[in-house]
Amino acid sequence: MTVATEILAEGKTKILWPGNQPDEVLVEYKDAATAFNGKKYAEIPGKGELNAKISGLLFQLLEASGIPTCFIGGGSRPTELVYKRLTMIPLEVVVRNYAYGSVVKRFNFDEGMPFHKPLVEFFHKTNDDPQITEDMILELNLVPTESVLESIKVLALQINELFVAYFSARGIRCADFKLEFGLDKNGHLLLGDELSPDNFRLRDQQTGAVLDKDVFRLDLADLAETYRTLLQRLEQPVAANSVRKQMYQAEVLVHSRKNILNPESKAILEGVHTLGYGNVQALNAGKRFSVKIEADSLIEAEQQLKKLAETVLSNPVIEDYELRIKR
Ligand code: CDP
Repeated sequence: MTVATEILAEGKTKILWPGNQPDEVLVEYKDAATAFNGKKYAEIPGKGELNAKISGLLFQLLEASGIPTCFIGGGSRPTELVYKRLTMIPLEVVVRNYAYGSVVKRFNFDEGMPFHKPLVEFFHKTNDDPQITEDMILELNLVPTESVLESIKVLALQINELFVAYFSARGIRCADFKLEFGLDKNGHLLLGDELSPDNFRLRDQQTGAVLDKDVFRLDLADLAETYRTLLQRLEQPVAANSVRKQMYQAEVLVHSRKNILNPESKAILEGVHTLGYGNVQALNAGKRFSVKIEADSLIEAEQQLKKLAETVLSNPVIEDYELRIKR
């Protein structure tokens, strides 16, 4: 007797099935294409498989770069991926490098205009997905703590850096994309949802050709054909020198740990008191290092700077450090 497996959830483009393990789910990517909040709909044979492949590829890229994601691997069918089971945070996190879509309408930007720095916007996953401020996210308790919200923003920008470099090495401009995050059974924040061209705006750097769901939204070209060509471009190996290194500027501030007597601070405080500033209660002298470092990504720069700060610039037994990285 076969036992029918019950669907855990079904959305416009994906079905969630129970996984082989209790903390896993099977995500089936459907052949459906939707736009304008479901008003436009089409069945596009092959789309599910293409989106599962592209999502899997991009999840692997992020995992290999140290981004925590829900991705475990491919499923038994080409339309399926296996994920860690998450409790999703009801936010759409949009990162924008160039002005397209709703931001053009809302703020009257010229379409295609580059932003001075990447922008992160939040939308609340409710009926019509309104834009939401960070204060309102906290007020509505949509995230467990303020630091989770801060981590979402940091991760979104780190992911953006990785995507910009990855697509750029393949002659593609990553204009914007949408992410969703969730918490695993241990309360760890992981990237969830999907990473398919349905959720990106991607343009050929040379020709400006549209390589994402805008071909369907605006009836520009055949969606399956477009996604197939995109997948081929992503699967092709790229020359190592096409990945440009970036320069990062950082500050490392080192100071003695609380409750540890620092003779230098003690001497300065005595001097300060002698000079008549008797109201100065405490003073902690420290060191400031200004560092320029070249790395493939913000994550790589951060990892190397932390190691440098812990092993060379500070004495971890008696000192703490603070790291500030600028682009
Ligand atoms: O694309 P649209 O004008 O509806 O909204 P947007 O805020 O300009 O979208 C920014 C990016 O997020 C685009 O790459 C969209 O494809 C993606 N997005 C998404 O994947 N799902 C949504 N519900 C809304 C936006």
